[in-house]
Amino acid sequence: MVVVWFEQAAANLPAGNDWLAACEQERLAGMRFPKRRADWRLGRWTAKHAVAAYLKLDCSPPALAALEIRPAASGAPQVFIEDVPAAVSISLSHRGDVAACAIAPSGAMLGCDLELVEPRSDAFLGDYLTLEEQHLVAQVPAADRSRVANLIWSAKECALKALAMGLRLDPRSAVVTFTDGLSGSNHNSASPMAVIPQPQAPTWHPLRVVCAARQNFEGWWQQTDCFLRTMVAFPTSEPPLIMTRN
Ligand SMILES: CC(C)(COP(=O)(O)OP(=O)(O)OC[C@H]1O[C@@H](n2cnc3c(N)ncnc32)[C@H](O)[C@@H]1OP(=O)(O)O)[C@@H](O)C(=O)NCCC(=O)NCCS
Repeated sequence: MVVVWFEQAAANLPAGNDWLAACEQERLAGMRFPKRRADWRLGRWTAKHAVAAYLKLDCSPPALAALEIRPAASGAPQVFIEDVPAAVSISLSHRGDVAACAIAPSGAMLGCDLELVEPRSDAFLGDYLTLEEQHLVAQVPAADRSRVANLIWSAKECALKALAMGLRLDPRSAVVTFTDGLSGSNHNSASPMAVIPQPQAPTWHPLRVVCAARQNFEGWWQQTDCFLRTMVAFPTSEPPLIMTRN
């Protein structure tokens, strides 16, 4: 399966809202917190452009307004064009001034996430990571722990999104492993938790998330500076194709 990854920064956003459907404009007006409004608006802008590019649709403001991203009861985003469900699955994430949308054919289970490499407390690790995952974080050099902790967290979030559950599920029920950590000099083939290679170019690296009594996922991650991009999908996908706006 082909998955496309599309990103936009806050700087890409127009000042006006004529590209939002009337009910989206109403929803935006009802949001009390500026940060939530800004995140939501950037996410909608990114998702609409992703869908327009993927389906080769016009992306004039009226065309984007006809393309609506509605939340399902779970919170998962669903795409409608002129009120008709579109033949795509999407997943959204916002972090800082950037939003990402992963997009795949309809029916796919898909989750994407953006994270910054930032410190995570021991309490956070204890609450959200399994003991094996905590062990993996503890194993890597101190300077790399934040990266590994955020990467594990990000992969879990992807799986929880792909299951359309979010934090209704215990994140410890999704166990993350890194499947190409097995070729590095720190490789320990006896361990299911191999040491993660340092990224050089932002190439995609494979990962796996095993979800207790639910669908397991294969996925991919990459890093650019302090930004981590992570996704999972079922059926499994090739490394995501990064698509940009013309
Ligand atoms: C999914 C979730 C883990 C992501 O949280 P996050 O890291 O803060 O945010 P991200 O920016 O990476 O992702 C947010 C996007 O995830 C998507 N999302 C939200 N709930 C989702 C779900 N159940 N399944 C799939 N995707 C979901 C939405 O598109 C959301 O953006 P939007 O609201 O602007 O459309 C979290 O929002 C969640 O668990 N939500 C559902 C349950 C809930 O509301 N619980 C309350 C707190 S326990």
